[in-house]
Amino acid sequence: MADSSNQGSKEMEPTSSRAAVPVGFFVALIVLVYWSTLYLDSNAGGFNAKVYEPFASFDMVKAIQPKGNLDPRFEKGRVAYATYCSPCHQNNGGGSPGQFPPLAGSDWVTAEGPNRIIRLIMNGLAGPIVVNGVDWNPPAQMPPWKDVITDDEELACLVTYIRGESEWGNSASSVTAEQVEAIRAETASRPTPWTQGEIFETSEQ
Ligand code: HEC
Repeated sequence: MADSSNQGSKEMEPTSSRAAVPVGFFVALIVLVYWSTLYLDSNAGGFNAKVYEPFASFDMVKAIQPKGNLDPRFEKGRVAYATYCSPCHQNNGGGSPGQFPPLAGSDWVTAEGPNRIIRLIMNGLAGPIVVNGVDWNPPAQMPPWKDVITDDEELACLVTYIRGESEWGNSASSVTAEQVEAIRAETASRPTPWTQGEIFETSEQ
């Protein structure tokens, strides 16, 4: 009783109070954060500058595409070349001075037709030769491949590759398995490597 009688006469102390935030606000916030994460995930492009500077033309997009010949036959030929030929003629087709003549830019490789070079690969080549007007008389000979590369399509891809490798400056026509098959049959009974004189006499380019 005594307490309540003098309550009204005292000044009230200032108070702070907590008002409840509406649940709806939190729900909206969570939805917003969730949505913005999804939005960033699908639209941020990994923060790659190229994504934020769209290309002005199709040519600009084309210019940044990977270079080189992506034809699967050409790629198969590249693998075969790396397996069988690059130990001597090198990956860049440059050969090795005095030892192995170059295939890059070689007039043997880029001749108009592939007949002579397919024959050469079947049986190998020995003795002095001329490549692009330069005399070669290497100590080793070019080995025969007919018993090693027995798949006509694989050999066709290989010849297509060395004739067409633009990084070597070569751009000669491609070769089919039928062309290889025909020459394999023609040369089947020949056991020895060619000499330059012989291969020039007996075969067209
Ligand atoms: C063991 C080393 C060796 C390997 C492996 C080899 N070659 Fe040769 N190649 C030679 C030599 C040596 C000559 C030169 C022969 C001569 O002077 O009579 C030659 C010459 C050539 C020539 C003619 C000359 C020229 O420079 O264009 C061609 C074409 C050729 N090779 C292609 C190939 C291909 C294709 C392969 C893989 C299937 C291959 N070679 C694998 C050693 C090799």
